[in-house]
Amino acid sequence: MKDSNFLRENNARFLWHPMGHPADSIKNPPYIVVGGSGVRIRDLDGTEVIDAVAGLWNVNLGFSCEPIKKAIAAQLDALPYYSTFRGSTNDKIIELSYMIRDFFRDEGMERAFFTSGGSDSVETALRLARQYHKIRREPGRTKFISLKLGYHGTHFGGASVNGNPRFRQPYEPMLSGCFHIPAPHAYRNPFGIADGSLLAEKCAEMLDQEIKFQGAETIAAFIMEPVLGAGGVIVPPENFMPLVRDICDRHGILLIADEVITGFGRTGEWSGSRLWGVRPDMMTIAKAITNGYFPFGAALLSAKIADAFESSEPGAGFIGHGYTYSGHPVGAAAAVACLDETKRLNVARNAKARGRQLLDGLHRIKSKHGSVVGDARGIGLMAALELVSDPETKEPLDPAAVDRIHKSIYKAGVMVRISGAFVLMSPPLIISERDVDSIVDAIDAGLEDALQGAGRAG
Ligand SMILES: Cc1ncc(COP(=O)(O)O)c(C=O)c1O
Repeated sequence: MKDSNFLRENNARFLWHPMGHPADSIKNPPYIVVGGSGVRIRDLDGTEVIDAVAGLWNVNLGFSCEPIKKAIAAQLDALPYYSTFRGSTNDKIIELSYMIRDFFRDEGMERAFFTSGGSDSVETALRLARQYHKIRREPGRTKFISLKLGYHGTHFGGASVNGNPRFRQPYEPMLSGCFHIPAPHAYRNPFGIADGSLLAEKCAEMLDQEIKFQGAETIAAFIMEPVLGAGGVIVPPENFMPLVRDICDRHGILLIADEVITGFGRTGEWSGSRLWGVRPDMMTIAKAITNGYFPFGAALLSAKIADAFESSEPGAGFIGHGYTYSGHPVGAAAAVACLDETKRLNVARNAKARGRQLLDGLHRIKSKHGSVVGDARGIGLMAALELVSDPETKEPLDPAAVDRIHKSIYKAGVMVRISGAFVLMSPPLIISERDVDSIVDAIDAGLEDALQGAGRAG
């Protein structure tokens, strides 16, 4: 490793950070993380904190998962790369495809198309959705509908169905034919409806209206995260996704579940679709599939999609899409080991129990720091605090104050993720009861410290 002076001096000078302003990264240099073990990370100063973010929602099994590390090393020795473009494949990806089908049997996922990450997976699903309709001689079905506040990665397709203006406006024009409906977000919605079930019905009605307005015969798919992650951990009421499923079926529209965060146990179920009792037509997965140790993902396809492609004319069903790293054997080896460990440790069960504990703690924090914590919400081990400058108007807390809170929480021993005025939490799913208590204590202490520093009472 280069010495500390070198690293500090060159921090953010020669690279641009995703989701940040390059000048800001120079002014407020990022934490330099140099080590990780269990659920903890260590920075260049030797400070060790609990990683309540699990990297970026992905290191579900923590930083010390030996079976995955060993599998990666062994695969590098055996076969570090081979392509899966037509005419060749590799042994590991065959093994993984068999395991994935078994893992998502309840969701009805029969085929996998492998990618290098979440954005790739979303892009794949959107493309295959259009092609599916072309194969079925409904070429007019090209449009997509999605939720405002949803996040689907940053490729042009994903950004076009993305529901956050910050990720869209600088890059417009987006793909044409993408439309958005309000998310069923009880804390902030345009209808002023606080009751979850009624709100879900209202949003579902908006979807139905939008479909009729556009013309069902022009729409390829509706894409949603079963629980919205990056948009601020918005947990839809339990009737929402089943209502969406029903509407999509009635109009011949495919339902794509973007499970890049919710796949592999984070919500307390093995997938977000399973949580809501819905079988989507396609699922997108990535992140925790390799515990974040190798960039990898997949678009998964139900029997309905598989049948259409596999029984189609050669020209119609030819998949003119794929990545050099689709089916990478090292990623596949990592995923095979990761799935084994994910099942062996039954991390979904821990996510459910520890998630309840975390949410209880966050509700206590909201009661105590009601002047700045407008909302506390979550499910399983994905949770958020929404920071406001005034709980009545719900005006988001200003960025400088949010930054101070972030730093204070870190000083108190926990890494959380800040996005706008949200404090996002997604700790590794192996986290212990004691460490969840420590997360809650650190957030409490961090808020106290930052608010006192700014001369504000909780
Ligand atoms: C729901 C969802 N979809 C897609 C993506 C994009 O994944 P990636 O950053 O691996 O491209 C993300 C990333 O956070 C995500 O949360």
